[in-house]
Amino acid sequence: MRNDIEKVLFTEEAIANRVGELGALISEEYAGKEPVLVCILKGSVIFTADLMRSINIPCTCDFIAASSYGDSATSSGNVRIRKDLDSDIEGRHVIIVEDILDSGVTLAHIKGLLSSRKPASLKICTLLEKRTGKKAPVTADYVGFECPNAFVVGYGLDFAEKYRNLPYIGSLKREIYA
Ligand code: IMP
Ligand code: MG
Repeated sequence: MRNDIEKVLFTEEAIANRVGELGALISEEYAGKEPVLVCILKGSVIFTADLMRSINIPCTCDFIAASSYGDSATSSGNVRIRKDLDSDIEGRHVIIVEDILDSGVTLAHIKGLLSSRKPASLKICTLLEKRTGKKAPVTADYVGFECPNAFVVGYGLDFAEKYRNLPYIGSLKREIYA
């Protein structure tokens, strides 16, 4: 797997430090509120697991699965909900947890859907944000790192379902996905 990586962009240690900071910030801002973290499957599963453990106030989690990419490295622009939340979020303080905000198509769709369910508040926490190619008007409230315009994998992020188990985030060699 390591041979397929062009460059390590965010080390395991850098990610752990930043996730700790985000957890501390969320703990402070949501004190007394019991937020629900909505993990977008599957890419955010590792980030959500670590983020939850760095939050020191009561919180719950739920899961939603959407797809827009299929097995290709470019967005198809179509978002389909494959698995919906188990819980009712009306009146809850919802934090959507995303692995990477790229075109914004996926997040805009999910944000619209969840806001129609009347949560008390709705924010977005994304580990990575690419500043290029925004198609949908969606902004994240919490951002881990700005991501260069490369196709990245690891720490939950995949290419054709692989590389999610890498403990760091790196750019994939072009010949792997091109
Ligand atoms: P968007 O709808 O274009 O913002 O894409 C969001 C989703 O596409 C993310 O949740 C990822 O699953 C996937 N994605 C976007 N960029 C990358 C990347 O560089 N590596 C792996 N997955 C990506
Ligand atoms: Mg993916």
